[in-house]
Amino acid sequence: MHILLETGRLRLRWFTADDVDLLVALDADPQVMRYITYGKPTPREAYVATYLPRWLAIYAAQPGFGYFAAERRDTGAFLGWFHLRNDRLEPEYVELGYRFQQAAWGQGYATEGARALLQHGFITLGLEQVSARTLRDNRGSRRVMEKCGLRYATGFVYPEDVIAGRSEDERAAVKYVITRSEWLSLQA
Ligand SMILES: CC(C)(COP(=O)(O)OP(=O)(O)OC[C@H]1O[C@@H](n2cnc3c(N)ncnc32)[C@H](O)[C@@H]1OP(=O)(O)O)[C@@H](O)C(=O)NCCC(=O)NCCS
Repeated sequence: MHILLETGRLRLRWFTADDVDLLVALDADPQVMRYITYGKPTPREAYVATYLPRWLAIYAAQPGFGYFAAERRDTGAFLGWFHLRNDRLEPEYVELGYRFQQAAWGQGYATEGARALLQHGFITLGLEQVSARTLRDNRGSRRVMEKCGLRYATGFVYPEDVIAGRSEDERAAVKYVITRSEWLSLQA
């Protein structure tokens, strides 16, 4: 097992090809996917053929970046995942993201792991700025961003080629950012 980092309660590790079932099960909960695909599950084939191969390739191509499984240190139970990846909309940023099983919500796990990933990003990787985006109405995700020190940067609407078949209101989103100096001043 390749461990990226550990926090008080969490272990963040590399995914492997054996994790398909965990990922498919996570995305099978419409509440988990509510602000991502409007509730639609991810087909198993998408993980097998597209997402996991893409994720596994990042570990070698960009050490320290990518998608990381989050599991409890005490039991090893899979809780969800984080990503710290190239921002596909604005390449000057590295984008933070997270997705957790509903049973794990509200216990501070996303905040705990995201804070550790920011430290990893700014200290180990030497990043200059980190972004995070979510659909406007995803209050829980926005709260995690705020608790980690990210600040609201702008509202925007995902273009139709990114989110097809949805109204402009349904595509309304927000971007939060934190710079390295902002993060450092929060640690003082
Ligand atoms: C967003 C998500 C990762 C948060 O994970 P979590 O482990 O529950 O997060 P935390 O416990 O660290 O913090 C959640 C915060 O949001 C708050 N929150 C959760 N739902 C909320 C809501 N509907 N309205 C307002 N605040 C809300 C919690 O009260 C908590 O804040 P607090 O500590 O000030 O009380 C989790 O809900 C999730 O996986 N959702 C589905 C996937 C998703 O939407 N991912 C983000 C896509 S951009």
